[in-house]
Amino acid sequence: MKAIDIRNKYLKFFENHGHKVIPSAPLIPENDPSVLFTTAGMQPLVPYLLGERHPEGTRLTDYQKCVRTVDIDEVGDNRHLTYFEMLGNWSLGDYFKEESIKMSFEFLTKELGIPVEKLSVTVFAGDEDAPRDEESANIWKSVGMPENHIYYFGKDDNWWIAGEEGPCGPDTEMFYDTGKEPCSKDCNPSCGCGKYVEIWNNVFMEYYKDKNGYTKLKQQNVDTGLGLERMNMLLQGKETPYDTEIFAPIMEKLQTLAKHDEISSRRIVAEHLRSSMMIISDGGRPSNVDRGYVLRRLIRRMTRHLNKLEIDLSELLGLIDLNIETLKEMYPELEKNKDIIKQVIIEEKDKFVKTLSHGEREFEKVITKIKAEGTKKINGQVVFRLYDTYGFPPEVTSDLAREQGYEIDMQEFEKLFKEHQAKSRMGSDKKFKGGLADQSEETICYHTATHLLNAALKIVINKDVHQKGSNITAERMRFDFSCDHKLTDEEKQKVEDLVNEWIKQALPVKVEEMKKEEAIASGAECMFIEKYPDIVTVYSIGDVSKELCGGPHVKNTSELGIFKIKKEEASSAGVRRIKAILEK
Ligand code: SER
Repeated sequence: MKAIDIRNKYLKFFENHGHKVIPSAPLIPENDPSVLFTTAGMQPLVPYLLGERHPEGTRLTDYQKCVRTVDIDEVGDNRHLTYFEMLGNWSLGDYFKEESIKMSFEFLTKELGIPVEKLSVTVFAGDEDAPRDEESANIWKSVGMPENHIYYFGKDDNWWIAGEEGPCGPDTEMFYDTGKEPCSKDCNPSCGCGKYVEIWNNVFMEYYKDKNGYTKLKQQNVDTGLGLERMNMLLQGKETPYDTEIFAPIMEKLQTLAKHDEISSRRIVAEHLRSSMMIISDGGRPSNVDRGYVLRRLIRRMTRHLNKLEIDLSELLGLIDLNIETLKEMYPELEKNKDIIKQVIIEEKDKFVKTLSHGEREFEKVITKIKAEGTKKINGQVVFRLYDTYGFPPEVTSDLAREQGYEIDMQEFEKLFKEHQAKSRMGSDKKFKGGLADQSEETICYHTATHLLNAALKIVINKDVHQKGSNITAERMRFDFSCDHKLTDEEKQKVEDLVNEWIKQALPVKVEEMKKEEAIASGAECMFIEKYPDIVTVYSIGDVSKELCGGPHVKNTSELGIFKIKKEEASSAGVRRIKAILEK
């Protein structure tokens, strides 16, 4: 059996039990800015779990494409994946525990042919919020689950909620016994030693949790989730998902191309490539914020590990083709979106290669300085600056340092990084409130371009040119500035050339916080001084521009494309307006 056969069997089984098969929602949630990606089958169904009528009825089943990124740094081991497929069936106030457990048992033992001895289950042990789930335990016994294969655990194991707030409830989880030796005499499904692998989770969603605690929902729902890659691996008796048909072709190809056999690097490339392809196919694009940044990280990490394996990056196109061939039966959309997938991945890879060579040069400077100082340790601030300003990954800094016999202070880096994360999290919370619409990669590029244009005008016209306003969409920018004459063709050309020159120079964009007076004294440009708080954010682009600004901006001007002035006209007395675009 292959993964697609398990999927088809599953959907057919639940269809035969009165469920309507609904399509997978896209990986990028349509109306939910609170999450980056769809992370579970229940997510697109939340309104219906809360009581809204679903047009397809009260029994639904589907396969759902999911991306979970909390584990991104774990990928490379034998089990973590960022992209996975979840099979699910739902009762929206229809059947509850009995029918749900009976169907799961029948599917596992009859359809998939798993012997009952290989199965164990867990149920909720009860606490002050909800009673001990004897009911589920009894149903398990009635279908033939041996009593000593039924375990009771508390909220940590047997309660399911997406995040902090929302529909939730006790769950019953099913485990597959791999046959490995027990880790101790207390070995059990929750011990995590790897003997028992979780395969299915049925959540009996009858509660809603908010800040004030738990209340009962209008209806009793069932939400189940079965991880397809994992089930596939177990049924095939494989140790990892990379040994199954989903990953085997690319893993083998990588082995023939690689100069070293580093299995974790091959896994990272295989996993991140599949994940990136799925995200791009569903409309995701790399950027410096939120979901775009996740995609950017995936592509960068993959590129870095291709480098590590010493695989020529020109092989990437062939690897994408191979993956489309492998996966197109499961995901026909990959074939349909082939061109854009290739374009996005290759462009992003190219950008990263530039970042890397830039960062490597900076790193060399650091080493020269440190050699002169005679120390052996690179401090965390330097690592952070390389990361923040040049997008140079700390692992790369660490590798390079080690190769040259230097240590780096990772602890200090981690501290700075955490502070930085907390800041950007604050930023993204604010953004969600303000609406996501104007935070696309395009608008961010245009935003940085306005700073370059502002700086260029000061050089070409005169230093008293100031910004009077701007308006940005994903397609173009408009920039108003003080100036007493219509720009000549020569002036327009010079401005355009200068901006493009700076883009070509791949100037880093740096952000720092400082006191407002300090910022102004250091010559930072600022449109409305009174608009800003006492502590301000200042964005500098190489040494050509420095402005007070809330951001966001690109990390490097090389991301901008080609700057073109489309029009120059009067806006109001003493104010001119430039309309410009960036061509990618
Ligand atoms: N929501 C549950 C999970 O993600 C079951 O679908 O495991």
